[in-house]
Amino acid sequence: MTDRYQVVGNPIAQSKSPWIHAAFAAQTGEAIHYDRHRPEPEGFAAHAAVFFEQGRGMNVTAPYKLDAYAFAHQLTERARLAGAVNTLKKLPDGSLLGDNTDGYGLVSDITDNLGWPVAGQSLLILGAGGAVRGVLGPLLEAAPASLTIANRTLSKAEDLAQLFAHKGRIDCLPFEALNCPYDLVINATSAGLNGEMPALPDGFIGEQTRVYDMTYGAEPTPFLRWAEGQGARIRADGLGMLVGQAAEAFFVWRGVRPDVRPVLSALRAELKAV
Ligand code: ATR
Repeated sequence: MTDRYQVVGNPIAQSKSPWIHAAFAAQTGEAIHYDRHRPEPEGFAAHAAVFFEQGRGMNVTAPYKLDAYAFAHQLTERARLAGAVNTLKKLPDGSLLGDNTDGYGLVSDITDNLGWPVAGQSLLILGAGGAVRGVLGPLLEAAPASLTIANRTLSKAEDLAQLFAHKGRIDCLPFEALNCPYDLVINATSAGLNGEMPALPDGFIGEQTRVYDMTYGAEPTPFLRWAEGQGARIRADGLGMLVGQAAEAFFVWRGVRPDVRPVLSALRAELKAV
């Protein structure tokens, strides 16, 4: 029987993961079956228990990453630090390993696909929710000169700084205190998902600032359009992060690392065609 994988979330109809993993499977010659599922609102654990009677691995997206964290029998170090699981793998002894590949996906997109430096750069992250917690470990490991978190609710940024203090120094600011340009700015607020824009001041994005939005779409996101208006010439959305986290999950499951670039190009074309 073909090894079975699945992405689980709510909503799930729009998920690109089945498309991405089918492309990885075709590229690498790995035979896998990968589909999608939306459980009942409180039904993640019940669904996962049934799925893993046969299934080999699961990708988990909002709002179930904390449920997957609780469901795993063992956690990788990066999942523990992220406080969330986006990848479950059934181990040979039948137990479930919880992993988190989001931070890897982000950092590999920025450094490998886009070729932007992180080491030695001043880095600003906007937002302090679960998405930020998921990527802080790999970002700190990439050795920026400084890392600042700005959030509407300052105390949430300070909580993250404390949580990651053993991995590196994090400065925290309210949005209104942002006043000098950074080398790299990453938007990780969920505002764009609702078509909103955080209330941001002028002055922290310059012509040389590289600007990344963790959300993506067929059109430039509201944040990237705003950044363009601020003068930023180098901008990218989070489609490459999506493909990068999927590639790392594929590697965790299959031990084979797909080439993300052709899949990312094809997915971009597909997104624009819809
Ligand atoms: P996620 O898992 O996507 O990070 P989350 O944990 O709910 O979701 O966090 C959402 C983040 O987006 C938070 O940093 C939130 O700011 P607050 O901590 O102040 O709530 C931020 N956010 C969402 N909508 C926003 C908006 N319209 N303006 C500014 N920040 C916003």
